[in-house]
Amino acid sequence: MILGICGSGRKEGNTGALVEEVLKATGMQSELVWLYDINVGYCDGCMRCAREGNCWQKDGMADLYKKMIGCEAMVIGSPCYYGDVSGLVKSMMDRSIALGYMGIGKESEMPGHGRKPLAGKPAAIVSAVAGHGVERALETMESFVGFGDMNLVGKLGAIAGMGDVREKKDVMDEARGLGVKIKEALSVKK
Ligand SMILES: Cc1cc2nc3c(=O)[nH]c(=O)nc-3n(C[C@H](O)[C@H](O)[C@H](O)COP(=O)(O)O)c2cc1C
Repeated sequence: MILGICGSGRKEGNTGALVEEVLKATGMQSELVWLYDINVGYCDGCMRCAREGNCWQKDGMADLYKKMIGCEAMVIGSPCYYGDVSGLVKSMMDRSIALGYMGIGKESEMPGHGRKPLAGKPAAIVSAVAGHGVERALETMESFVGFGDMNLVGKLGAIAGMGDVREKKDVMDEARGLGVKIKEALSVKK
């Protein structure tokens, strides 16, 4: 299963359209999770996860952790807000610190950093922006993907103006290209 994670609250918006296009182009079974729908609390930095093996917060992340660990590849999408990711995406990333302490995956080379259950999974990142600032939004997601030792197959910063990204053929073509790259990365892995 290819997991899409979308951090926009706008179901008809641009980020969702991009993530859906990438997922479709993989030609594989996929699931799109809207962070807006699943109730994601803030990470409070308590690090109880490191001692207890999971986050104490019992919210939508509990199920998302399972999907992240179980998926074959991931597509993460964020609208660009103030030149960075949306708060929903930032919270999802922050809360993912708990993934390192669930006893799954290879040990991190950094002492105390737990394990890397997402290591090697192909990942694509996309961000929609009206005009400016998408580079840092992509950088933020790239550092999350890098921290997890995932395999970043590509990224797309889509400048949509105030319009609908679906009308930009070149951008939608790029999104489809990312889906194909995920598929290729998975076939090499097998
Ligand atoms: C809180 C907020 C902050 C935004 N910040 C920026 C920005 O820094 N640069 C920009 O060009 N557009 C900015 N925008 C516009 C969105 O990036 C743009 O409308 C994008 O297409 C939204 O994605 P969505 O359709 O998936 O919701 C902002 C919008 C909101 C609501």
